[in-house]
Amino acid sequence: MNNPFSYGGIVKGETFCNRITEQKDLIRAVENSEKLFIHGERRIGKTSLLKAVIQKIEKNSGICFYIDVWKCLDEDDFSRVCASAFAEYAFKEKQSVVERLKTLFAGITPSFSVDEAGKPSVTLLRARSDKPGPFVDEILKAPQRVRAIEPDRPILVVFDEFQQIREISGLKLEQIIRSRVQEQQNVAYFFCGSRTSLLKKMFLEKSSPLYRSSGHYPIESISPNHWKPFIKTEFTTTGKSITAETITALVEATGGHPFYTQMLCSSLWDITDNTVSVSDLESATDLLLDRESSTYITLWNALPEQPRKMLRALAMENPLFKPTSGKTVQTHGFASPSSSKSALTYLIDKDHAAQNKDGGYFLVDRFLGMWCRRNLTL
Ligand SMILES: Nc1ncnc2c1ncn2[C@@H]1O[C@H](COP(=O)(O)OP(=O)(O)OP(=O)(O)O)[C@@H](O)[C@H]1O
Ligand SMILES: [Mg+2]
Repeated sequence: MNNPFSYGGIVKGETFCNRITEQKDLIRAVENSEKLFIHGERRIGKTSLLKAVIQKIEKNSGICFYIDVWKCLDEDDFSRVCASAFAEYAFKEKQSVVERLKTLFAGITPSFSVDEAGKPSVTLLRARSDKPGPFVDEILKAPQRVRAIEPDRPILVVFDEFQQIREISGLKLEQIIRSRVQEQQNVAYFFCGSRTSLLKKMFLEKSSPLYRSSGHYPIESISPNHWKPFIKTEFTTTGKSITAETITALVEATGGHPFYTQMLCSSLWDITDNTVSVSDLESATDLLLDRESSTYITLWNALPEQPRKMLRALAMENPLFKPTSGKTVQTHGFASPSSSKSALTYLIDKDHAAQNKDGGYFLVDRFLGMWCRRNLTL
């Protein structure tokens, strides 16, 4: 019997737990052609959720373009991944592919090939070398052109790992995207990414081109009420039973964070034969912490002194509510309130720490928190 828990990739079908409300909300947003900034901690399940939404929208004859910006190193790469995503539309429809591509990318000559998996890949050449304006500007008009051909079908453009845009072009691409997106009233846009702190800067800082250009949609952990039946079913359908008490303790330890929950479930499934109990959970956790230990030691060694103190403070307090209070400064040995503040900013900028909806700060990697509590307590 194979381990039913998986972590690290996109989950779908049987391995996808709940997210019913989120799917409904996002489908409604597409129907209303909303522009949404979708943010959440690393590995909280953003891409899996987006893929589930895309599958449902396409099933209802919607048109979706999924663009992963992660692999783009420069503006040219970005143009190409966008063009390939938009070109897939031309490949799916009945009319001549060449004619469709020409309609989508006016003034640009597309040359295309199909890889072994049947995925189209597009190379674009400028037809008129004197054409002014950036190349990418033209490509980003494609969704609007699809809209003109398809007035009645919902259209969604998803940019995943969107924060990468800032790293490859400074503000330039954001300015172009803002103008193109603003004129596409009847196309929905989701801007999603894993570097929450950077994404927030892109959408919430006044100097940013995309400042307040979209609504917000936070993705949170999955609630224990949804995890409990899911975990139980995954164990029982693979010939093992697990006590309710163990599931409760497991979800409490991971805070319902999808990646860490699947990771701990997977480890637990591996080390047990029949009935799974709370003591097995301890062993599964030890196993994981041992496995991750060298990564955590490397991280610890690479941190400057004050951020190290903050890492330990976050793990101990879990969560930490008043990072600059006299009590925090004294208890955790910071030089001053301003140094505890900048240590926290340092960890947030590196996405090691985040703030929960109650205002408390915590370590994003739940196992790093556990590792610190076990190894760094004085
Ligand atoms: N709905 C879900 N049900 C069960 N497990 C999930 C769910 N969503 C995510 N996971 C778990 O979390 C892992 C990460 O999911 P995913 O890649 O979708 O997250 P992400 O937020 O896009 O991550 P990243 O920040 O790296 O882009 C999955 O491999 C899976 O183990
Ligand atoms: Mg992702």
